Amino acid sequence: MNLKRLILVCSLLIGYQITNAQEVCPIIPQPVKFAKTDGSFVLTRHTPILAESELLKSVAHYLQQELLKEQGLPLSVANTSKEPGVKLVLTSKKSSDIYTLEINSKGVAITASDAEGAFYGVVSLLQIARQSKNLKGSLSLEGWKIQDSPLYEWRGLMLDESRHFFGVAKVKSILDWMAFYKLNRFHWHLTDEPAWRIEIKKYPGLALIGGIGDFLNGTLPSQYYTQEQVKEVVAYAAQRFITVIPEIDMPGHASAANRAYPEFSGGGSEGHPEFTFNPGKEGTYQYLSNILRETNALFPSGMIHLGGDEVSYGNQQWSTNADIKTLMQSKGLANVKEVEKYFMKRMADSVYSMNAKLLVWDEMAEVDLPKDKTIIFWWRHDKPDMLTLSLKKGYQTVLCPRLPFYFDFVQDSTHNYGRKWSNKLYNALESAYSFSQDNYLDGSVSKKQILGIQADLWTETIQSDQRLDYLLFPRITALAEAAWSKNAKDFQAFIQRLKKHMPLFQQASIYYYDPFNPAKNPEPVRIGTGVKRFDTGL
Ligand code: ACM
Repeated sequence: MNLKRLILVCSLLIGYQITNAQEVCPIIPQPVKFAKTDGSFVLTRHTPILAESELLKSVAHYLQQELLKEQGLPLSVANTSKEPGVKLVLTSKKSSDIYTLEINSKGVAITASDAEGAFYGVVSLLQIARQSKNLKGSLSLEGWKIQDSPLYEWRGLMLDESRHFFGVAKVKSILDWMAFYKLNRFHWHLTDEPAWRIEIKKYPGLALIGGIGDFLNGTLPSQYYTQEQVKEVVAYAAQRFITVIPEIDMPGHASAANRAYPEFSGGGSEGHPEFTFNPGKEGTYQYLSNILRETNALFPSGMIHLGGDEVSYGNQQWSTNADIKTLMQSKGLANVKEVEKYFMKRMADSVYSMNAKLLVWDEMAEVDLPKDKTIIFWWRHDKPDMLTLSLKKGYQTVLCPRLPFYFDFVQDSTHNYGRKWSNKLYNALESAYSFSQDNYLDGSVSKKQILGIQADLWTETIQSDQRLDYLLFPRITALAEAAWSKNAKDFQAFIQRLKKHMPLFQQASIYYYDPFNPAKNPEPVRIGTGVKRFDTGL
């Protein structure tokens, strides 16, 4: 190449980079299509929010609330106006986009065929607004034209509140951030070994006795969600298009419940005392079905997660329990594994009888449950055969492999207090960002059944809001991008956008891990020595 050509190529490349730099769309997760428009729009307290359709009124009110809360801008909502404003438009046109957003000198227009699409348009607008300069109540919005739709229908986050309890305010804050990043399923792990966290009126001891203690301190006064609080959280989530799914774990991880109602305990093991419910007692099925009926009435999602994981950690006494031996004889069950399957089928029937869907961890892919009413959560990344089995059997499946989606694993090799797989592997921001289902599937299975992805936040090591923030942020953004964005991955470009979101965490007093300046917020120490997690050898 001669010198002239080299100079030409270099200047073209530089030019390309500059144009590209200008085209960095400030939204996470990245929309399908985005382009700058020639013109910006200034939003003030006098700018009307226009929702012509009644169906979009609640979305308009959400925008109104958020602009007031985050920018101090009190806008009003109207049906029509001559002033340029933020228009929410319902369209009957068929489109692969669930929303379009256009900001130009004439105003802002969000178009969608339903309220959910309009909501995500509003969220994109809010992200642009939060990153715009607010000069004495005038918000200058860059011009953008955006067309968007999600990769996955299920974009989930699970929070374990048995091991540590965080309360309504923190849960609402998590829901706010989920909405901000277009996540839409909140899986609420409410029962486990340390404590039971949901009020059940028919069995008050579950919350009052089962709610005592947490992972590090068995004597803390009981902490749980009243049914009124559950309704409050569910309604708050619904306004943000987030579905809440309760998990009532069984037949294992039942120790807290068994403290309150020992008559239904099926015993445990040395490491896991009173770990299981008793599948040999008829009364257990009645008791658990009553619990599920109350639970189902509180959660309009029509989905209940029954866990079904790790039963072998504490079912040793099943082989000697007289009731269970009788059950095995009468039903011809050869071993405790068969007993587990029998139990799960009966409890599944109880869920289906309420017209609810059954959700379970991947151990239950071995049980023959109806495929149209059951969703399997594949979590054991070291058992890809369980994912294959789930898909081959025709189950809808959510992918939440420990690597990279257990967010109680640390984010950096230098972090000391969370989990690592085999004492070395952890879940860096980049591994969550780079997740691709194709890395786990062989050609023989149907991808159509994959509903989506989810990150799980187990809380053995999370005894404070600070640690919760530290493990969730900024990985929540990588999760969102992997769950929503259909675009080719580009981690460096993602980082550019993420850097602009970090000040938002700061403004909200989130104690986030800063991968670019780790000294900013040092890793919060886990208090106490804790107990071994079985699957890591920690
Ligand atoms: C699990 O981590 N036991 C689902």
